[in-house]
Amino acid sequence: MGRFTDRDFRYQSDLTDAEFETLAVRAGQVRSSHGEHSEAIYTTSSYVFNSAAEAAARFAGEEKGNVYSRYTNPTVRTFEERLAALEGAEDCVATASGMAAIYSTVVAHLQSGDSIIVSRSVFGSTNVLFEKFVRKFNIDVRYVDLLDLNSWQQAIDDTTQMLFLESPSNPMSEVADIQALADLAHKHNALLVVDNCFCTPALQKPLQFGADLIIHSATKYIDGQGRCLGGAVAGSAELIEPIIGVLRSAGPTMSPFNAWVFLKGLETLALRMKAHSENAMALALWLQQQPQVSKVNYAGLSDHPSHELAKKQQSAFGGVLSFEVNGGQPAAWQLIDGTRMISITANLGDTKTTITHPATTTHSRLTPEDRAKAGISDGLVRIAVGLESIGDIQKDIALGLAAIK
Ligand SMILES: Cc1ncc(COP(=O)(O)O)c(C=O)c1O
Repeated sequence: MGRFTDRDFRYQSDLTDAEFETLAVRAGQVRSSHGEHSEAIYTTSSYVFNSAAEAAARFAGEEKGNVYSRYTNPTVRTFEERLAALEGAEDCVATASGMAAIYSTVVAHLQSGDSIIVSRSVFGSTNVLFEKFVRKFNIDVRYVDLLDLNSWQQAIDDTTQMLFLESPSNPMSEVADIQALADLAHKHNALLVVDNCFCTPALQKPLQFGADLIIHSATKYIDGQGRCLGGAVAGSAELIEPIIGVLRSAGPTMSPFNAWVFLKGLETLALRMKAHSENAMALALWLQQQPQVSKVNYAGLSDHPSHELAKKQQSAFGGVLSFEVNGGQPAAWQLIDGTRMISITANLGDTKTTITHPATTTHSRLTPEDRAKAGISDGLVRIAVGLESIGDIQKDIALGLAAIK
């Protein structure tokens, strides 16, 4: 595949044996002859060739080099190489959004007559994508409980080409046994696809536990400041290649500007994920002390059912937690409306703390029965803990708790 720019190695860093924090800052960078220190943004849709023969060779993939920014762009490529290095993947392809990453992966790897097994605890739009669009192509979508290995075993058969999950889950912070599910998938020649958006490679590298493809919504922690939409898929070159084919033909491509923003996001990812996790841990412990709160869901808490597995698979527990307040939906809404600083929005992975009521926002499209199965009660509130001072975050939630009548 001729999608890589020729590289001028005079300007490259030697990253042999470099560690995560170094790769996050330097991997994938190719300096132009201008010698720019920060990565350049190449806002160009097409590229010129030295001759007709060179154009033909590039189009045929016989010669390396850029062709058209729907599937080759130097800034986007730098982002892809950097994220691949962080995930420990051979290759990566960037997409226009996290949903585009999931859609392109499914379209590239599944065919009519196949089946896919999906964790019941996936992001609402992922669920809608599978139900409304994937099913349309005669692909059987089977839902199972994330934690119940038995139900994955029962759902898998000869038609199964893919297992799909998020870990930890949103908003219950449940952790899948990635190794066990990878073993199950491989026994049936299926792929295990893990949406790693909540942990990012700074906290968890699912490929190390046998996953085949990693999905990202770069919109979340990779950006980290709520500015751009983007996504990515990382894995072996062999599995990424067909996804690039989807981008080339269908066009759900990341823009060079967004790739540049995400590159800057990756540079501070490890620091931010550590700080998000520390704030979330402190908030979870504080919430447990509040009389209006009946339950806190955060895998960092030693009494959370996924705590031990999370410790094995993750280096910290991430920034998202949820909790139940006594008094159901009215109490949850009074709490949310009673906060003054925290942003009421369903987004997450931002420096700014966000608060949402899953039953009436992110998970409102589920039936009440499916919500109950997923543990999403009417009194559940989700917080994506940001980077403000933990004292100020607690003070704001205390205002919310005091507003419950
Ligand atoms: C876990 C997860 N995966 C995928 C997505 C979709 O990402 P995007 O909004 O970038 O399309 C989201 C978010 O919104 C998400 O939370």
